[in-house]
Amino acid sequence: MKHIILYYFSGTGNTAYVCNLLKGALEKRSVKADLVKMEEFHEPIDPAALKGVDAVCLCYPVYAFRPAALVLRFAGLLPAVQTMPMFHIKTAGGVRGLTEYASTSLSRALAKKGYRTEYDRTVTMGSNWYYAYDDRLVKQLALAAEEKAEQIAEDIISGKKRILKPNFIQTFFSWLASFGEHHMGAKQFGKSLSADENCNACGLCAKNCPQKNIRMDGARPVFGSDCLWCMRCIYACPKKAIYSKGMQFAILKNGYDLKHVLADDSITPDFVGANTRGVFKSFHQYCIDRDA
Ligand SMILES: Cc1cc2nc3c(=O)[nH]c(=O)nc-3n(C[C@H](O)[C@H](O)[C@H](O)COP(=O)(O)O)c2cc1C
Ligand code: SF4
Ligand code: SF4
Repeated sequence: MKHIILYYFSGTGNTAYVCNLLKGALEKRSVKADLVKMEEFHEPIDPAALKGVDAVCLCYPVYAFRPAALVLRFAGLLPAVQTMPMFHIKTAGGVRGLTEYASTSLSRALAKKGYRTEYDRTVTMGSNWYYAYDDRLVKQLALAAEEKAEQIAEDIISGKKRILKPNFIQTFFSWLASFGEHHMGAKQFGKSLSADENCNACGLCAKNCPQKNIRMDGARPVFGSDCLWCMRCIYACPKKAIYSKGMQFAILKNGYDLKHVLADDSITPDFVGANTRGVFKSFHQYCIDRDA
């Protein structure tokens, strides 16, 4: 293995962070790793883009137990190939469970184009919706991801296989949750967004929306219904002016800012430990096991 393309989508920075770690871990082992943003593609990809490439890695966040809709659109743009190893690296707020299987229907669809999934793994990061994790946990997970990235690089270079086989129930619930998220969740969420009087009309939200779902109408952004529910516009707004009429519960009160958490030395990465009980017990297991 000499050259891998890492196609990635990241709404709020977690996946971009993990991808950069993976790129570093691969290059340390003399594998060329190109980071390419999925959101820049709107036309079918020229097969020449994969010339000399030994494997393709898709990196993306899990939304309601499935890949973000933009990832599915991107996958449709990939050229058919004779045969090509493929890796899926997902990021998610949860540890294991249905989230783990978020990639399986996409893997099946891409197999028809010649992409053979050989390695599939979820890296747990801070949650960017509904429920805010303590900053100490966000940092602890991000640091654990450094070890995971090293392990992933070693695994894929050595040809280790990690293939997921969901059962019928897992497949069904994953489809159901995803259908609800896309058809009822993301659309409604997009329509529910507005900017308040703090908006200074800087246009950043419109410029950065991966789905081009925001347009500036004079002094205010206008949000459409073609939303991914990625949270980028909300957390990146310099005036914290974007809110939801009716779905505010999905927005973390203090936003989500991984870079800030990593840069703040007063945040200690020690939220979970050997004595942790309850919901977060599995997070400790996850953090100490490089292979989990
Ligand atoms: C709309 C939406 C749905 C999500 N659904 C799930 C989920 O089903 N399981 C999970 O573990 N995390 C879920 N999350 C959390 C994200 O997957 C997680 O925070 C991810 O690392 C964000 O990556 P990003 O910063 O690259 O966008 C969801 C987040 C959003 C915004
Ligand atoms: S990023 Fe925030 S301040 Fe800038 S136009 Fe959008 S809502 Fe207004
Ligand atoms: S409108 Fe906001 S939440 Fe929706 S896709 Fe665009 S940036 Fe993401």
